[in-house]
Amino acid sequence: MSRAVVLSVGALLVLLAGGIAYLLPSQETHAPAQPSPSGINQWQAFITEHFAFDEACKDCHVEQFAAHQRSGHSRTATPMRETNVADKLDGTEYRDQRRDQSFTFKRSSDSFLVQATEENPFPVHWLLGSGVHARTPVSIDPVSGHGVEFRWSWFAHLDGIGVTPDHQRFDDYKPHSLECYGRPLDPKQALACVNCHMTAVPPDGVSPTQDMFYPNVSCERCHGPRKEHVRLAKLGQAEEAKPLLQYNDQTTYMRQCAQCHRDETNIPPNSEQSALARYQPYGLQKSKCFQSSKNMTCSTCHDPHDSTSSDRRMYNDTCLQCHQAPEQTPCALQPAGDCVTCHMPAVEWEAGIEFHDHWIRVVDSSDREQP
Ligand code: HEC
Ligand code: HEC
Ligand code: HEC
Ligand code: HEC
Ligand code: HEC
Ligand code: HEC
Ligand code: HEC
Repeated sequence: MSRAVVLSVGALLVLLAGGIAYLLPSQETHAPAQPSPSGINQWQAFITEHFAFDEACKDCHVEQFAAHQRSGHSRTATPMRETNVADKLDGTEYRDQRRDQSFTFKRSSDSFLVQATEENPFPVHWLLGSGVHARTPVSIDPVSGHGVEFRWSWFAHLDGIGVTPDHQRFDDYKPHSLECYGRPLDPKQALACVNCHMTAVPPDGVSPTQDMFYPNVSCERCHGPRKEHVRLAKLGQAEEAKPLLQYNDQTTYMRQCAQCHRDETNIPPNSEQSALARYQPYGLQKSKCFQSSKNMTCSTCHDPHDSTSSDRRMYNDTCLQCHQAPEQTPCALQPAGDCVTCHMPAVEWEAGIEFHDHWIRVVDSSDREQP
């Protein structure tokens, strides 16, 4: 008998508010999940009953909807077959620069396949990332739940494909193994991967065919399932639908974003200093600005609905809203300079990709070496 799949909005809210742990398979070892028709039906019924999907918010929340369309959040997980990367790759061959190996690509009406030299063709399910920096494909096997992060990614600065960051360690691989295609992911890793790029992913025990995932960081990932709110709002009773997730204090606010953007509690162990700049909640929470002001959140400088602004004047003005005499001592060095360049510098992570260090401080070159 298949394992019962326990689904409730309460459990899902705990998930959305507290991180991915609740959706992940339990630590106990068990046989690979078998397809479970009852689990599939329950999951689909659960999604239909509680979720309204972004289009349903469009007419009433025009501004947030338009901003969200600009943000990478709204298109961070796309079925591979439907992407423009698939258009470009279809029928082409890519030579791996670090292995004696080539990959050929082929799209059909219902799939996108990659085939490595002397290997069987392999389906590519998802392309993760909107492409601000990069887009990386992953697949999850519907029967076993095991996944693979492919060895090739599309890079914005190349306008083409190259080796996926951190895959140098798979330069040596066993032919006819999954490593031939990329980094193998156990079911837990596969769900964790997509759970940061999606709104809802099926729980352990449900065999995850591609249509079971609710892709992208949609409105309802940050605001909880909203079908009831839509129903009541249409009756003119929107205020009766209470907010499901709160952003009115610093701690709960940061916890939501940190599920995916990461803080002290979930940064990968042994991260190098240059990698830590990727994790904005981690950095921001170490800043005196954050700790002393008590009300600073990501919204102090960003609209969480929109893409990141590159308007330096706006950021510097925000710094100066607090850093003005007499309440605060102005900068000893350049009280009217470009604050971000010196106090939140861009740091290279990998493959030419940069992140701004959100640990706002007087940066000296020596403390870059040690965390
Ligand atoms: C028929 C119009 C309508 C639709 C459709 C609608 N809303 Fe609302 N929404 C409102 C109104 C009116 C308010 C203000 C109610 C109040 O004062 O709390 C509101 C408030 C909100 C708020 C702020 C207060 C809170 O509850 O957190 C959020 C967030 C929100 N809506 C999200 C959504 C999302 C997400 C969707 C789509 C799934 C959606 N709304 C669809 C009318 C609508
Ligand atoms: C479910 C995971 C998840 C949550 C929760 C989340 N984010 Fe994100 N965020 C992402 C991913 C993934 C990206 C990269 C999107 C892409 O592919 O471009 C991103 C990108 C962003 C960007 C850059 C958008 C752009 O297009 O320039 C900002 C800003 C951002 N997030 C802020 C926030 C804030 C603020 C919160 C909390 C209120 C938050 N995020 C919550 C996953 C998440
Ligand atoms: C803990 C949450 C988390 C996990 C797990 C995770 N990501 Fe992400 N990913 C993010 C966030 C947040 C960003 C946005 C980083 C930023 O711009 O600050 C991102 C960015 C990306 C980008 C670049 C997007 C762009 O447009 O530049 C790609 C590609 C990506 N992730 C692929 C993956 C793949 C593949 C996996 C799994 C094998 C994975 N991610 C696992 C949270 C996560
Ligand atoms: C990455 C997380 C995130 C996503 C995705 C998101 N919101 Fe929000 N939303 C927030 C936060 C955080 C606030 C709290 C106000 C603030 O800090 O700007 C908020 C506030 C709101 C409000 C209250 C009015 C306001 O702007 O302050 C409405 C309405 C709303 N969101 C609707 C939506 C709709 C509709 C979508 C999808 C089109 C959406 N949100 C997507 C994080 C998000
Ligand atoms: C919401 C108010 C607020 C904002 C906005 C703000 N800060 Fe701060 N910042 C503070 C407070 C409060 C302190 C602590 C002052 C103290 O301890 O005397 C601080 C401390 C600092 C410090 C000293 C850090 C240390 O470790 O000693 C620097 C540098 C700094 N801020 C730069 C900036 C820059 C640059 C920006 C804009 C990107 C900024 N701040 C935005 C409130 C703010
Ligand atoms: C004091 C202002 C400030 C606060 C608070 C802040 N950011 Fe930023 N953020 C910036 C600046 C400045 C940039 C660089 C923008 C540019 O010029 O490209 C940036 C860039 C980003 C980017 C683009 C990738 C990168 O690192 O360059 C993401 C994603 C992001 N911030 C997310 C967040 C999240 C999530 C939070 C809350 C944990 C947050 N930010 C809080 C100022 C801030
Ligand atoms: C050219 C690089 C540079 C620029 C631009 C710059 N700063 Fe600074 N800032 C520094 C350095 C270096 C120090 C340490 C000076 C010292 O200790 O004598 C400092 C000190 C500070 C401090 C005091 C930290 C302490 O020791 O308590 C604050 C606050 C601060 N800056 C804020 C800002 C703000 C706000 C801006 C933008 C208006 C800004 N800085 C622009 C380099 C810069």
